[in-house]
Amino acid sequence: MFSNKLIKRILHAYSLTFMTGAGISAESGVPTFRGKDGLWQNHDVQQLATPRALESEPELFWEFYRWRRQLLARVEPNLGHYALVDLENRYKGFTLITQNVDNLHIKAGNRHVLELHGNITRTYCSKCGKEFAEGEYDDTPAVPKCTQCGGVLRPGVVLFGESLPSAILAEAQQAAAESEVFFSVGTSSIVEPAASLPYIAKANGAYLVEINPEETPLSAHADEVIREKSGKILAAIVLALERIA
Ligand code: OAD
Repeated sequence: MFSNKLIKRILHAYSLTFMTGAGISAESGVPTFRGKDGLWQNHDVQQLATPRALESEPELFWEFYRWRRQLLARVEPNLGHYALVDLENRYKGFTLITQNVDNLHIKAGNRHVLELHGNITRTYCSKCGKEFAEGEYDDTPAVPKCTQCGGVLRPGVVLFGESLPSAILAEAQQAAAESEVFFSVGTSSIVEPAASLPYIAKANGAYLVEINPEETPLSAHADEVIREKSGKILAAIVLALERIA
């Protein structure tokens, strides 16, 4: 499953970094991106989740995001998410970086999450930037509008073609550089700049671990590859640490 060496490394480490992708939520029933669910009502999601679609087809854009929000509101975290909460409680130098927008790490109880691609539960104005909590804006019109400036509201996610929040990316890069053990969990490791983080960790001396049932471009560079589902493995890591403690 995983090596004794890995458990020893984790035990003796101060700084542990986990970067997650859609695969960690697969066991909660959330479809991954590059699985077979890349279409929504015959629309290519990569065309729809874009600033251009928000501008030119806001009704369709919002129909899609309301559907995704409803789908994600119904799903629950799985063992993998909960294991990461346990690890955050054990390690001062714990960092969780995610590419997921599904809010499941926060729902599970992780307190500090570097959300590289945003969070679908958030909403802000595309014109003036004002943020709105749920219930603070009128969600009944096909395209919800800002109560302050009348601009079109949008979900707090990074759309295709947009850049990542720079402060969060910088924090993630720093955590990667400082980590003694870096885990890449449930990601196809092809979308930049997230895909570069494990290489930053490795170049700075981290022990690099991949947890993914499938091979990825990162696999050949990892010090340890665990070809299993993340729920089972992350829970088993926590159990192994508990046994020793
Ligand atoms: P992908 O759909 O590209 O990859 C999901 C990965 O999870 C695959 O490598 C699967 O083999 C793996 N996987 C599936 N089930 C698993 C399980 N139970 N345990 C562990 N691994 C499992 O998703 P991401 O890599 O997250 O960006 O995609 C990266 C980004 O691409 C997304 O954040 C999104 C998209 O463009 C934005 O929306 C900006």
